[in-house]
Amino acid sequence: MRKLNIIEYPNIDKGRIRLKSFCTYNYSYVPSDDLLLKLKNKKYFIKTHGCQANIRDEETLSGLLNSLNMERVETKEEADIAIINTCAVRENAEDKVLGEIGEFKNLKAKKKDLILCICGCMVGQPHIVNKLTDTYEHVDIIFGTHNIQDFVRLLDIYIKNPGTRLVDVSSKSGDIYEDMPSLRVNKFKAFVNISYGCDKFCTYCIVPYTRGKERSRDIKDILKECSELVKQGYQEITLLGQNVDSYGKDLNSNVDFAYLLEEVAKLGIPRLRFLTSYPSDFKDNVIDVMAKYPNIMKYLHLPVQSGSDSILKKMGRRYTKEQYLDLVKKIKEKIPEIAISTDIIVGFPNETYEEFLETVDLVKQVGYASAFTFIYSPRKGTPAARLKDDVSYETKVKRFKELVEVLEVDVNKYANSLIDKVIPVLVEGPSKKDPNILTGVSEANKIIHFVGDKSLIGKIVNVKITKNHVYSLVGEMINE
Ligand code: 5AD
Ligand code: SF4
Repeated sequence: MRKLNIIEYPNIDKGRIRLKSFCTYNYSYVPSDDLLLKLKNKKYFIKTHGCQANIRDEETLSGLLNSLNMERVETKEEADIAIINTCAVRENAEDKVLGEIGEFKNLKAKKKDLILCICGCMVGQPHIVNKLTDTYEHVDIIFGTHNIQDFVRLLDIYIKNPGTRLVDVSSKSGDIYEDMPSLRVNKFKAFVNISYGCDKFCTYCIVPYTRGKERSRDIKDILKECSELVKQGYQEITLLGQNVDSYGKDLNSNVDFAYLLEEVAKLGIPRLRFLTSYPSDFKDNVIDVMAKYPNIMKYLHLPVQSGSDSILKKMGRRYTKEQYLDLVKKIKEKIPEIAISTDIIVGFPNETYEEFLETVDLVKQVGYASAFTFIYSPRKGTPAARLKDDVSYETKVKRFKELVEVLEVDVNKYANSLIDKVIPVLVEGPSKKDPNILTGVSEANKIIHFVGDKSLIGKIVNVKITKNHVYSLVGEMINE
């Protein structure tokens, strides 16, 4: 076995602790001359799994490697450093990652100098790090979501002790690092973190352990980042937080999410979105700001998870079905054109068919424009994973399919309502299936295909919708 240098090992119990305070630092690590010389003009590959927070982390990692004069490549075969940025939210995501890590074995046998790094939420779990260090010996560096700012330092340590594997996964409630270099994935759509971590501790969810304590960025840092994006010509900003509605609660000021949203909207970005909202923290003043600014997309992702009060309680979600429906009603009254989407988990331990039908009923009452549905996946260390579960996986799959069918009725209805309408579409690029067709997104994040010139990529154009394919739509561009 290769030598192993453990700087810090993840610890779920430590990950649960919430220290009151956190610090904001400015990133300042200076790489050694040796590292700069060794990596200059070398190539890196990054594969990211999971949510937008991970995509944003990928951009920081790219920025760090770029600052070492490295160049990004799109295939692992070309790479001198390869990073797999992982997701732990469900088991199938983890299985996929383990398969990918396994595939590197042959490549590393051929290319001995390749440095394979694994980061992200998955390695915040001790049993995963054990597995990687015991059975995936070709992995060189493992670092956690709280150690992104340490990445270049870890590379420095690694090249001084080549061959010695490194593990540095802190479980301490994280701090905030500003001024990290960043290389954005997209040239016209940007993610901006407004807070990190989550303090909700929904009983099924691993995120509060892997991403740590909820902490808000200072509003001046957020506004500075957003203004720069506006100046650079970005068309869309998505403000990111596991729970955007609790933004500012930990800052010693009167700043809340509605205030921040309004300040960002005033900067004049053509499209403004935010993710993710938590129903019982969602305040009326956010609805007012959304209604007031045309550049705030009339789209809201409002995860409900379940429509059954008993299941919501067991999930640790702090609202009832009725409260959720009241909130939706209030939002629709003030913003009639709003498109609402959601996340739903089917098959929480011991969920009965009657409880499941409460979700079906809620879905019918809301009429979602789109939805993300998941089968419950036990996450080691979470309270729900300790529950004995009497419901078979087959039953869960059956219910899952039943729910998807019900959801599709409204998704289709929403899509149909767009037929013959002229809507603004942000053009993303050529369609994957047909390079002569362009793909873009509507205000409500619907995928729209239409014929147009590649020069329109990154622009917002008007498209008349002609055909509905449920999960995507077809249209014709309207020239002004
Ligand atoms: N099993 C299934 N789905 C989950 N999610 C979070 N944890 C789990 C889990 N253990 C879903 C929730 C959340 C979305 C990002 O992932 O619906 O909103
Ligand atoms: Fe997980 Fe709940 Fe926090 Fe969302 S709000 S990240 S589901 S714990």
